[in-house]
Amino acid sequence: MPAFSQNHPLDNLNTFGVSAKAKHFYEAQSLNDLMNAVKAIPKNSPLLVLGGGSNVLFTNDFDGTVIRPNIMGIEEIYSDKDFVTLSVGAGEDWDEFVGKTVEMGLGGLENLSLIPGNVGASPIQNIGAYGVEAKDCIEWVVGLSIETLEMVKYTNPECNFGYRDSIFKRELKGKVIVTHVCFKLAKKPTLKTHYGNLEEELSKLGSKNLQSVRQAVINIRNAKLPDPKTLGNAGSFFKNPIITVELAKKLQNFYGTIPTYPVTEKLVKLPAGWLIEKAGWKGKRTGNVGVHQNQALVLVNYGGARGTDVLALAKQIQDSVSEKFAVELEMEVNVV
Ligand code: FAD
Ligand code: EPU
Repeated sequence: MPAFSQNHPLDNLNTFGVSAKAKHFYEAQSLNDLMNAVKAIPKNSPLLVLGGGSNVLFTNDFDGTVIRPNIMGIEEIYSDKDFVTLSVGAGEDWDEFVGKTVEMGLGGLENLSLIPGNVGASPIQNIGAYGVEAKDCIEWVVGLSIETLEMVKYTNPECNFGYRDSIFKRELKGKVIVTHVCFKLAKKPTLKTHYGNLEEELSKLGSKNLQSVRQAVINIRNAKLPDPKTLGNAGSFFKNPIITVELAKKLQNFYGTIPTYPVTEKLVKLPAGWLIEKAGWKGKRTGNVGVHQNQALVLVNYGGARGTDVLALAKQIQDSVSEKFAVELEMEVNVV
């Protein structure tokens, strides 16, 4: 019978570094252990699955059960002359796993280097960076159904992946605990280096291969994004909004060049960081919270902030961007 810890502190289990407690808490070390824990969840106790806590904001104590699926292991399940398929436990650290794939000479995930968190969370919001998304390599996702206690498997198309989106954030929210993610990786990698200043960083490094792409991404990220170990944050707080080409043109007529990324013929993606910066928020601090000085999309906890302080700042930013640009910012971070 799994022993739940009661009133368990979550302060060190979220990268915002805010203080919160879980009424019941359990770290499952195997699939069997996870099944037994789910069976033993106290009646009417809401469940929160927690990985590395790098995309959550606790605004209160969690009056329910927090489970961390620390299922480990990287297993090769298929290999041919071009590809290898690896099944990876949800509890594996994402960046350590990416580092291993690069060492093995396998291509596909190198642009996703240094993203904090665990493998199990990678399909939830379909993590993405530098022109690549997890969905580009995910073959299928395996999980435990909380309702039936059966193992369930979703193929890539069944996951309904989108920009920072998947079925696990929608229809299956709170219904499935991801236990394994299966990635198909290339033995003859095709490097993707078109995004932002990746080419420029690569030319500084003087080589172009899996290792140098990983290193270039790490260098760019380190220069822009605060390290949660020294400054609490959860990466981009908002998603980049998708707006009509028509509205983008209107904004451009008024504000001059705005960087946009095409989505469809009629829709474009705008960098939320640009909107927040132009609305005057970049580098601003109120009390213990603020907007990072190098990346306006990142909200930070200077120490001692409550989740509600971060949320209040986020709401002020949403209102200000909406008023100035008629664009609504949607939160990327999961507010608990
Ligand atoms: P958590 O924060 O613990 O959980 C996130 C959500 O997933 C929660 O809703 C949780 O309930 C759910 N969840 C977690 N594990 C499971 C599971 N096994 N089964 C079911 N549900 C689960 N994200 C990007 O996409 N691109 C980036 O470039 C990026 N950069 C970042 C940079 C920094 C400095 C930080 C702090 C964050 C960044 N992020 C980025 C966000 C974050 O790293 C990712 O969203 C990551 O996948 C979260 O993993 P986690 O294990 O910490 O998830
Ligand atoms: N920009 C500004 N001011 C800022 C920040 C950005 O004007 O303060 C503009 C610049 O024009 C810049 C553009 O925004 O060229 C894009 O900035 P950046 O390359 O830093 O990326 P982003 O759009 O802000 C997204 C992801 C990041 C991911 C990077 C790199 C979202 C919500 N965020 O940020 O993901 O690492 O691209 O691919 O899509 C995360 O999800 O947590 C995250 C960090």
